[in-house]
Amino acid sequence: MINQSVWNSIERYINKHDGVIRDLVEFKPDYTNELRKGGEVAVDPGLFLASRDTWMYSEMLKKAVSLVPDKSKTSFLIDLGAGNSIPSIVTMLDADHNVKVEAVEINHNAIDSSKNNAKSFGVIDRFSFHQGNMLQYLNQYNYNHDNCYIIASNPPYVPTNIDINENQEYSAINGGEDGLYYLKSILSSNLPKCSIVAVQWSSLSTPRKMINLIEENFKCLNVIAARVPFGIYTSKEKILSFLNVKKNADEVFFESDEDTNYYYIISTILQRID
Ligand SMILES: C[S@@+](CC[C@H](N)C(=O)[O-])C[C@H]1O[C@@H](n2cnc3c(N)ncnc32)[C@H](O)[C@@H]1O
Repeated sequence: MINQSVWNSIERYINKHDGVIRDLVEFKPDYTNELRKGGEVAVDPGLFLASRDTWMYSEMLKKAVSLVPDKSKTSFLIDLGAGNSIPSIVTMLDADHNVKVEAVEINHNAIDSSKNNAKSFGVIDRFSFHQGNMLQYLNQYNYNHDNCYIIASNPPYVPTNIDINENQEYSAINGGEDGLYYLKSILSSNLPKCSIVAVQWSSLSTPRKMINLIEENFKCLNVIAARVPFGIYTSKEKILSFLNVKKNADEVFFESDEDTNYYYIISTILQRID
């Protein structure tokens, strides 16, 4: 196999932290039970429909909130690139203590969906919405050091050769040349010491580089990887041809059978090493 060594690095990282590797190829995400209220599930899907990626993110957020040390206080979940906010809403409804969400999203329509969803589930008073660039938001954030923060993101993490600021068509997935444009900035931003950082990335996001970035400053509280088929964007020729270049250069990992490609989504819950 061409790029087995990339996979070996991922597997080593997961095993080192007692993580789990799942197969979600046959899995269909379903929030019906979690979001049922008065018999009905009223969800505005927004631009980003429920996918395995979104479902993994929801599971990671729930776990991250459960790891907060002091449940007598309100926790603040900063959701960077919140999409339609279903993962944050599911997390709030599941939490064993009070959680407030700051949903940050560049896309106006996704912010509108988030507001509709938060309203439908009666949690709008625990949300604040910020339309704009997540990195700018994070850099200007004024932390209150008495609070516990969960800084979370399922950011665009697919490597492409498309200018981040130029082509809006790919803004939900475009992670820049190495897929780490957002992840790198989130991990290197000035986060409060006790904060929990929950970030989703993948075997396409230059994993060896990502693991080094994590290990420089963070300990791992939880890691889960899930094998999934390529989605709508990753299957487009423009994206796929670049991913093949990266695969041949031994920088990313995906595998193929007859007509389908598969990659791994990786959810990591981290805490800064002080
Ligand atoms: C992979 S999607 C994840 C959406 C949602 N959190 C989920 O898990 O379903 C990435 C999201 O980030 C948003 N996004 C892209 N660039 C952004 C930026 N610079 N600032 C804020 N949000 C951004 C996209 O519009 C998209 O909704």
